[in-house]
Amino acid sequence: MRPNVISDEFQLTRARSLADCQPLQVEDYSLQAAVFASPPKWHLAHMTWFFETFLLKEFVPGYRPQNDAFQVLFNSYFNGIGEQHPRDKRGLLSRPNLEEVFAYREVVDEAMLLLLSDPHHPSYTEIQRRTRLGIEHERQHQELMFTDIKYSLAANPLFPAMSPGTNSPEGDAAVSTSETVSSSLAQQRILSGAAGLLPGTAVMNEAPADELGPGWSSFEGGLVEIGYQGDGFCFDNELPRHPVFLQPFELADGLVTNAEFQAFVDDRAYECPDYWLADGWAAVQEQGLRGPLYWLERDGQHLEYTLQGLLPRHPQHPVCHVSGYEADAYARWAGARLPTEAEWEFAATSQPEPVRGRDTHNLLHPPAREHRTDRQLYGACWQWTQSAYSAYPGFKAEGGAIGEYNGKFMSNQWAVRGGSCVTWSSQARSAYRNFFYPQDRWQFLGVRLAR
Ligand SMILES: [Fe+2]
Repeated sequence: MRPNVISDEFQLTRARSLADCQPLQVEDYSLQAAVFASPPKWHLAHMTWFFETFLLKEFVPGYRPQNDAFQVLFNSYFNGIGEQHPRDKRGLLSRPNLEEVFAYREVVDEAMLLLLSDPHHPSYTEIQRRTRLGIEHERQHQELMFTDIKYSLAANPLFPAMSPGTNSPEGDAAVSTSETVSSSLAQQRILSGAAGLLPGTAVMNEAPADELGPGWSSFEGGLVEIGYQGDGFCFDNELPRHPVFLQPFELADGLVTNAEFQAFVDDRAYECPDYWLADGWAAVQEQGLRGPLYWLERDGQHLEYTLQGLLPRHPQHPVCHVSGYEADAYARWAGARLPTEAEWEFAATSQPEPVRGRDTHNLLHPPAREHRTDRQLYGACWQWTQSAYSAYPGFKAEGGAIGEYNGKFMSNQWAVRGGSCVTWSSQARSAYRNFFYPQDRWQFLGVRLAR
């Protein structure tokens, strides 16, 4: 790859991290409402630490880290590198302050661009490869920044929007927490079914859910291949490509909607153990779950917390922020099941659709399905599969600390596929494997049925 191509990608991605944070207020940068919801300031520093650790320290002779303390503070989980600041205490790092983190980014950016500008460096191929990994890593963290700050802001009873003034296209559809929500506009929107359209959301031709879907596609199965193929970037866990045998199956053409999930709630499925895996039922009992994370009922109205604030819940938007257990229980209630990873990937490969992502549609909430051929593979919600996230036959993690990136998490998590509204389109590919614990709900996680 020519030096300026990778440098451009690097700069574009680094700038995007800062642009994404633009709407934040200074108090927001340190919020951490749960162990898994890292503060934006920590993300900004950690992405920088990644380039410093895996590129500058390795390939720039005599490179001196900006600050030795940062090596521990901003190491996420790389035991091969060394000690880590406790994950649940990232929000307590009032120092370095924000300005110092921005300055850290600038210094590392400058050193990285210098490194990338020298194609005669003896390790230039490896430098390019690692930089590509660092770029993809930063894009993954940008997605996490959105979902983490959403979780932390939602802990505030005022339900602040990530950005004041971007509550809704009209600026007035967001539900104020200090006044009654039954007032005119919000209610009219709920009644008209046009509630809560977010910036950039395509307006569907108002076809009711049962007219548009769900619709099923049939696949014969047989011996197929999955795993990354091509000469672009992929993560190590997408390899090696390998054969799998699939029984004939059907996959829903669209994602489960809020209206459909509401029927599950209304049927008191959260009170009926028949639909639930044992661990899922235990979670329902222990946490008192009665619906997806961020769903709220107030004065009889169905609301949903979004990055644009508290909004009337759009019946045709995909349901999101459900755990793997909730997805699985919904599927059982609906007389279906969750797809396997292999089914999902095979179906996505045999019926490709244009990728959408945060960088192409600029949405902060999963949009409604636009038309019959919009299968919502990418750009809306991650889709739970019933597959345990594990190694493909022949998988080998890279040697050294960087090999900790994916492989060591292959235990007790479920694979999710596709990509969400805040995933980069460069990562929205059929082979991409993301993974979460089945109880996790804070990502944009949705449901696609199989049978
Ligand atoms: Fe990371």
